[in-house]
Amino acid sequence: MKTKTRSSAASLPLNQILAGDSIDVMNSLPEGSIDLIFADPPYNLQLRGDLHRPDNSKVDAVDDAWDQFDSFKVYDDFTREWLKAARRLLKPNGAIWAIGSYHNVYRMGAELQNLGFWILNDVVWRKSNPMPNFRGKRFTNAHETLIWASKNEAAKYTFNYEALKSLNEGIQMRSDWVLPICNGGERLKNEDGDKAHPTQKPESLLHRILVGTTNPGDVVLDPFFGTGTTGAVAKMLGREFIGIEREEKYRVVAEKRIAAVRKFDKDALHVSTSKRAEPRVPFGQLVERGMLRPGEELYSMNGRKKAKVRADGTLVSNDVKGSIHQVGAHLEGAPSCNGWTYWTFKRDGKNVPIDVLRQQIRAEMQ
Ligand SMILES: C[S@@+](CC[C@H](N)C(=O)[O-])C[C@H]1O[C@@H](n2cnc3c(N)ncnc32)[C@H](O)[C@@H]1O
Repeated sequence: MKTKTRSSAASLPLNQILAGDSIDVMNSLPEGSIDLIFADPPYNLQLRGDLHRPDNSKVDAVDDAWDQFDSFKVYDDFTREWLKAARRLLKPNGAIWAIGSYHNVYRMGAELQNLGFWILNDVVWRKSNPMPNFRGKRFTNAHETLIWASKNEAAKYTFNYEALKSLNEGIQMRSDWVLPICNGGERLKNEDGDKAHPTQKPESLLHRILVGTTNPGDVVLDPFFGTGTTGAVAKMLGREFIGIEREEKYRVVAEKRIAAVRKFDKDALHVSTSKRAEPRVPFGQLVERGMLRPGEELYSMNGRKKAKVRADGTLVSNDVKGSIHQVGAHLEGAPSCNGWTYWTFKRDGKNVPIDVLRQQIRAEMQ
């Protein structure tokens, strides 16, 4: 696979799948070099005996050696060690997503907090097509839990609020996500036509995570890479990835999968950004730059109120003077007013929102 390194994070093995134990490999990578970690570690399912469907066919459960731990203590020690290694790798404003089931997610949550990570949310991934509970002795296990945590409480983690809202048709994204499990054409098969991996995650899950909590060019590390779902989605979305996987058979599958993935068009990778993250443009700058002239009249969006622009970037209307926000609020008898969306100016007989001029300045700043 093509290797790319960056000067800011010297000799990072970008867009590679590294063979070996995730703790050892993570400890060999440079400190503070990773923007986001997505981790889907062994669940420690502790399965007792085979599981069969009502037609007596055997369920392809996770009974692999990589999921076996002798005791909770051994599992906790392992969890602590990989989380410690992961935290060392994160940049100061980095974050981690760790996914698990009831078997392991509480144990991971406790270790995350003990190590100084700051939990931002837990997200319930509700499976729209879960496997039934064949024995009928418990509830259908229809969800997994993801913990999203920043490196520490003060970290300025990435959260593309507006992009997530857009993904959700303009409604704030909630912490319960309904997405199907990975099957159909997306499910990778081996030469015998069986599942190539027992726990391949759906690309939709990674799409939401990467669009919501990383930016193009960010480095995403997955220490339990499996079939490389994280790498495949990272490549599509123009993020860099590093995968770690101990089992050769999974590395082979992941290499082939990622090689076949096409990166989306660069322009399509831009997402709606948080209004709060946009650079501040004072109204006075519009006047200084001659986009609006002192003495020019502004009109409220409904055309009922007007005010004059002054040379210092304030407005005057009858006896009231002040900022675009203060004068708008006074004229409306309202406690506050967003002057940028309230005022318009006239050009060629049409009322144009002053916010158009602010956007023009912001576009120049990009
Ligand atoms: C739950 S699966 C991850 C599946 C992956 N998210 C996907 O979509 O295909 C966990 C993976 O971690 C690997 N693994 C387990 N322990 C490991 C370790 N100590 N070091 C490296 N890889 C490990 C296993 O081989 C397995 O492929």
